[in-house]
Amino acid sequence: MSNTDILFTPMLQRLPPALLALGAQLVALLAVTATAVALRESGSGLPSGLPLPLWIALTGLAAALLSRWLGLPTWWQIINLVFIPLLWLTLQSGIDPLWFLAGFALLALTSLGAIRTRVPLYLSSPRAAVALAERLPENARVLDLGCGLGGPLSRLGTLRPDAALDGVEAAPLNWLIARLRLLGRAQVRLGNIWDTDLSGHDVVYAYLSPAPMPRLWQKARAEMRPGSLFISNTFTVPGVEPDEVVELHDLSHARLLIWRMR
Ligand SMILES: C[S@@+](CC[C@H](N)C(=O)[O-])C[C@H]1O[C@@H](n2cnc3c(N)ncnc32)[C@H](O)[C@@H]1O
Repeated sequence: MSNTDILFTPMLQRLPPALLALGAQLVALLAVTATAVALRESGSGLPSGLPLPLWIALTGLAAALLSRWLGLPTWWQIINLVFIPLLWLTLQSGIDPLWFLAGFALLALTSLGAIRTRVPLYLSSPRAAVALAERLPENARVLDLGCGLGGPLSRLGTLRPDAALDGVEAAPLNWLIARLRLLGRAQVRLGNIWDTDLSGHDVVYAYLSPAPMPRLWQKARAEMRPGSLFISNTFTVPGVEPDEVVELHDLSHARLLIWRMR
């Protein structure tokens, strides 16, 4: 059985990768700690079981190997490899723990939902908004699904004063920033894209991740009017060719994939 087969067994398939990665980390921690205790009690000549640096390195290695065995992507394997070693180095640095609490609070308010949605916060480049603005019909009603900090809507507001702009965002801090930034220019709702009706919009823009794209395409097909545009920044709909692809030539090599709904 390959790694991918293991990941796609029905039970594991339902778990978000972040939880699998956390599980691998905990199992590795327990396994290496149990080995250290066993070594100490067997009188192996190592008085404290395993020396701390070796214990840390082995835990990282075991977590990375477990992540690989679970079929997690390479970047999760690397995160699990370096997590405990970096945690240890950070604890040595004497930084005030309040900074970590502040960092965690910021991350939670902007991206905690990504564990469930598998869509973290990253921002469209200004070129995406310029390309969007060039393709909006006159007086279009535009929706940014997961509008983040409101960047694309804000730029569209300037480039296309004729457009009516809406956004929906699930992360509270992102929503607040977008709402304040777009006061009087766009309606920004705190909510979920899956509860958002797409039927009233001429253009629906999404910059999410590969994970929601198949379901989002089904939703767009069910709700969007014929002739309206569904535009995804970078992420494709598996098996469905876009009607137009616009290379943005920005730093992240992003492109707009445009489908005209039928
Ligand atoms: C990659 S960012 C894109 C932000 C913005 N659209 C842009 O292009 O700059 C995706 C955003 O979608 C939000 N998001 C992810 N899943 C969501 C959901 N189910 N409902 C609402 N917002 C969601 C995330 O919180 C994040 O802010």
